[in-house]
Amino acid sequence: MLDPGSLGEHHAWTPAQVCSYSHTSHVSAKFRAVIGVAAIGIAAAALLSCRPASQPRPPADRIKPLTNYWEKLIGPLAPPDGFDTIRSRECAECHPDAYEEWRTSAHAYSFSDPQFQAEWRKDKHLWLCPNCHAPLANQQYRLITGLVDSDFRQPVGDINPSYDSELLDEGINCATCHIRDRKVIAKQKVAAPHSIQVDDHLMSHEWCIYCHNAKVVYGPVRICYFETGDEYRKTELPAKGVHCLDCHMPETTRYTSSGESRRGRLHNFLGAGIPKFAMEASGRSGLGVEVKADPGGYRPGQKAKITVVVTNRFAGHTIPTGDIERFALVHFRLLDGGGKVLWKDERRYGEEWEWWPKARMVQDTSIRRGESRTYDFEVPLPPGLEEASFEVTVEQHRMIEKNRDANKMHHSYPMKVEAWTYSVPLPLKGAAARRGGKDDTSRRRATRGAGPSMDG
Ligand code: HEC
Ligand code: HEC
Ligand code: HEC
Ligand code: HEC
Ligand code: HEC
Repeated sequence: MLDPGSLGEHHAWTPAQVCSYSHTSHVSAKFRAVIGVAAIGIAAAALLSCRPASQPRPPADRIKPLTNYWEKLIGPLAPPDGFDTIRSRECAECHPDAYEEWRTSAHAYSFSDPQFQAEWRKDKHLWLCPNCHAPLANQQYRLITGLVDSDFRQPVGDINPSYDSELLDEGINCATCHIRDRKVIAKQKVAAPHSIQVDDHLMSHEWCIYCHNAKVVYGPVRICYFETGDEYRKTELPAKGVHCLDCHMPETTRYTSSGESRRGRLHNFLGAGIPKFAMEASGRSGLGVEVKADPGGYRPGQKAKITVVVTNRFAGHTIPTGDIERFALVHFRLLDGGGKVLWKDERRYGEEWEWWPKARMVQDTSIRRGESRTYDFEVPLPPGLEEASFEVTVEQHRMIEKNRDANKMHHSYPMKVEAWTYSVPLPLKGAAARRGGKDDTSRRRATRGAGPSMDG
């Protein structure tokens, strides 16, 4: 397992970034990286005066306000009465379950995540990136107040007195969703030792969509494209009252310290289940699979026609969703009685992008909610085959290995997880009698979460 603490590149960014306006505005792009590194050396001086005297702040009329919501931060937030800070540990003592679940979630690593750090580093620690990955003003070393000539590469800002580096490491934390105006935000009014402010927006899918739906183009080779919210809105689910929370924060039972039970919601925000640090590897897939084999049986030595229907049945959006590097790989295999692979094929679901010279989607095999893909396989059966099964395995992939290596990420970073394998015995003509009439029920193994169904 990786120790996110050892990946502390981000601790070096702050001083260099304070003056990114003054260090970058008068030099060509190709020198920016070098100057950025040099800036760390003069951090102490830079901290005191954000702009060297030789580079005065541009005239006020060239500084334009921030306009897009992802350019703006939340807060700064002050702790509610009774709390010393807004850190998540403050909540852990009385809400240990919610805390432990959250700690394993991708939200808790949204800033320290090695892929985020690697890509952010390539982007010269662009001030915009943490705005969704660590969106509280208290998590930013400096506060950006405007852009010179509305150019996001030329931010103007000041050092932030409310900056808390420990809070930054928490990424999307309890306070992101649960603290506003010095009150604890909840879905309902309950008796608690702290203030409770009911807020239907923050406690709903609308707040998830705030971050999980953004189409931001930063430049020719850097884009952020998340359409989970739009994909979800195009399904029948909103009208049925089924929301993000129903699948990603399913209901659970909580026990108070006095032993009373109440309704709660899981806070591990499980997605496709590609593990991260503290997360247990527990892949899940929204795909459902039907394997249609001829019940009359197949003759060894001939080709078996097997139809497989893959449907996005359980996700509330497209598969995959969100990060454009994610993909699902579905393996189809014919195995003999001893488990030897006799034939195989595979299908990939996801987007494929070309990054140079301009980011461009070259292929999209993602599968919309409710959509099915039907494959008619002709599988050669060797003569004399006595026992055979047809297997479907779904694997969730974070990204291709080439991109991991291009980002210089450690090889121990979890790249994929198997969601499930579904296996159907193939009826063979003449073989059943020899096997003593084995029954035809399907074997299902390693099935977690949304599983497949069988029809055939
Ligand atoms: C001293 C103990 C204590 C601390 C610290 C504490 N809580 Fe609570 N909280 C409670 C109790 C008790 C309740 C009432 C419900 C229950 O018994 O769990 C409650 C209720 C809540 C609820 C509403 C529960 C519901 O049923 O809808 C939320 C949300 C909540 N707390 C969030 C937080 C957050 C976020 C923090 C950290 C900033 C925090 N709490 C810190 C004790 C605490
Ligand atoms: C403040 C912005 C923000 C909000 C609000 C937010 N998310 Fe996220 N979410 C993120 C970011 C950023 C990541 C990616 C973290 C990573 O993988 O490093 C993420 C990751 C996830 C993942 C896991 C993806 C994975 O790779 O395993 C799921 C599932 C998820 N969010 C669901 C939700 C749901 C449900 C809500 C609403 C209750 C929500 N999110 C609210 C920003 C947000
Ligand atoms: C991405 C947003 C998000 C984050 C991060 C988050 N919560 Fe929640 N929390 C919610 C939502 C949404 C609800 C459910 C509202 C409802 O009852 O439908 C909730 C419910 C709760 C509840 C009451 C229900 C239960 O399961 O006990 C408590 C207590 C709570 N959260 C504590 C925390 C603590 C502690 C943290 C940090 C460790 C945290 N939450 C992080 C969104 C979040
Ligand atoms: C009907 C259940 C359902 C609903 C509703 C739903 N999701 Fe999902 N979501 C899933 C399933 C299942 C997966 C895993 C899909 C897969 O990759 O096969 C998933 C995957 C994700 C992922 C990707 C995680 C990853 O590991 O790549 C994110 C992010 C996400 N959902 C966010 C959301 C948000 C935000 C909403 C609301 C707008 C939402 N989901 C609504 C079931 C649902
Ligand atoms: C508008 C909000 C927003 C902004 C701004 C943003 N991100 Fe994200 N980012 C997200 C969300 C939401 C996810 C989770 C997507 C998912 O898993 O489905 C994410 C996921 C990622 C991931 C994938 C993490 C993983 O575990 O797979 C990386 C890497 C990333 N972002 C890098 C960046 C960089 C670099 C920037 C700045 C150029 C940036 N992000 C700006 C919202 C944002």
